[in-house]
Amino acid sequence: MLNEQLRRTIEQMPKAELHIHIEGSLEPELIFALAQRNGVSLPYPSVEALRQAYAFTDLQSFLDIYYAGASVLLAEQDFYDMTAAYLARAARDNVRHAEIFFDPQTHTARGVPFETVVNGIWRACQDGPISASLIMCFLRHLSEDEALATLDESLPHRDKILGVGLDSSEVGHPPEKFARVFERARQLGLRLVAHAGEEGPPAYIESALDVLNVERIDHGVRCLESPELVERLVREQMALTVCPLSNVKLRVFDVMGSHNLRTLLDKGLVATVNSDDPAYFGGYMNDNFIAAFDALPLDATHARQLARNSFSAAFLGPEQKRAYLAEVDDFFAARQGS
Ligand code: ADE
Ligand code: ZN
Repeated sequence: MLNEQLRRTIEQMPKAELHIHIEGSLEPELIFALAQRNGVSLPYPSVEALRQAYAFTDLQSFLDIYYAGASVLLAEQDFYDMTAAYLARAARDNVRHAEIFFDPQTHTARGVPFETVVNGIWRACQDGPISASLIMCFLRHLSEDEALATLDESLPHRDKILGVGLDSSEVGHPPEKFARVFERARQLGLRLVAHAGEEGPPAYIESALDVLNVERIDHGVRCLESPELVERLVREQMALTVCPLSNVKLRVFDVMGSHNLRTLLDKGLVATVNSDDPAYFGGYMNDNFIAAFDALPLDATHARQLARNSFSAAFLGPEQKRAYLAEVDDFFAARQGS
């Protein structure tokens, strides 16, 4: 349960965000502003009507609306504005570092050049108030050949991209479908992550590890269905980027009180808290922490662990990691003394 002191601690503690789809940070107001700027007509008469449509029953029902919302992004400045808005918002939640997903295929399929997408997002990261890097996601409902073509297209921008990921409709599109493209990305020195065990079974988490060689699992909450997998994830200290509000909105859990975040931590898993698609799921980083801590038996010890996990699991150099972890430890030491 959350008291005022714990709320302030959660809000003020330094943290990293490792699971944010930048297209999922497009607020309805910005969707309408960009639609007007670009002369795009939307199937919703107003911001309120669009917001009302955010009543999801599962991942696919969300993705349909999310891809429709992204259709207003056409010019480099649109991608810049979207990213700048996210970074400013994340900074207010005391996010110090963000590793940001983007979905180039959502845009190149509409005729928007790859360079327009990556340059807009990247430039905003350069100008932003916090440290940020980019993870390019392949859409798993498309073919591996299309993913390979996207990886090729990204090569002139290799310096702007830290890693690759795998997102979109999970069930029916197992990680092994993307074995070759992840191997190619690994050879290029890109960091590797994949969504697995959000709606899909524990076997998808295993194949993300064994076939794709990922270094973090996005979501992964269904791992608890396999004790052997949990034991392995703990042994390998494999981080899970958990997204509490997303999981409730997409009915992975009925209510926040049934979320398994506390159990994941109790088992020694390197769980982190993230916002996924904050404009669609009802909140940014601190909203996710507050909703989870309000509904679950989590206290300041867990808050510290989650803040430490977020930096331990980040793709940062050892020096940067040490500095951020020291910042977390100093923050909690000062709080104890007060
Ligand atoms: N794309 C954006 N958000 C996603 C999620 N939670 N799962 C899969 N694909 C996504
Ligand atoms: Zn996601």
